[in-house]
Amino acid sequence: MKIVRFLQLESTNTKGLELAADGAEHGTVVSALKQTGGRGQYERSFFSPPGGLYLSVILRPELVFENLPAVTLAAGIACVHFLKMEYGMELLLKWPNDLYFEGKKLAGILTETLPLRRGSPPVVVVGIGINLKKNMDVPGEIAGRIVFLENIQPLKIKLPRLLEGIVEAVIEYVNMLVMDRKKLLALYEKYDHLLNKTIRWDSPDGSELVGIGQGIGDNGQYRLLDDAGTVHLISAGSLSEAITSETRNHNQ
Ligand code: BTN
Repeated sequence: MKIVRFLQLESTNTKGLELAADGAEHGTVVSALKQTGGRGQYERSFFSPPGGLYLSVILRPELVFENLPAVTLAAGIACVHFLKMEYGMELLLKWPNDLYFEGKKLAGILTETLPLRRGSPPVVVVGIGINLKKNMDVPGEIAGRIVFLENIQPLKIKLPRLLEGIVEAVIEYVNMLVMDRKKLLALYEKYDHLLNKTIRWDSPDGSELVGIGQGIGDNGQYRLLDDAGTVHLISAGSLSEAITSETRNHNQ
């Protein structure tokens, strides 16, 4: 496995996109101990102090454009599956890109592509950021919403094994997506954090919709059932558990 390691980068995804544009091969990995401009979904920043794992995998999968959003789902399934098999962790996925443990975020995934070229496979960079150490220096407003690998698995985790295991799993599950998209998407259900919960969709245009989470649709969108019985296929924006009067009373 070719791993290009850095002490610090602005973003492993930015470096990954640069290396990919220069011809880096399928499976090349970029990692950093800290990022100064880590990126999350929708141009949000991803706070990346020392004590986290920040990596990007360059992939050239034989996928058509419509299947590219599912690469994020494949990467999420890969991470959850590997962490379960290797360390016995029970994690869930919050569509489309977050790894959750007991309602808190452990990791995020950001998939980006180089401009598509007719006749060549797409070039995809899958970026993964995992909160590892509980002494990571995170701002107060984030601290309450995240969890660290060290809290879930107190045994010493060997970083090289963690990184390589995750990369191998991502390559394997993206390969499964290429071979059999239905099989891959069916795996999502058992890790679905939002399934059958009351959830809120914040759409990119700022509107909101509340309904019940119904799992993944055929093309990897998320299904939301509204009060009128209509199923909406969500492909952008963010989903979260809705605070209903029931959950509010329960939390008081
Ligand atoms: C999210 O939570 O919205 C996705 C976060 C993805 C963060 C990872 S860290 C490694 C890679 N480099 C980045 O700049 N982002 C991804």
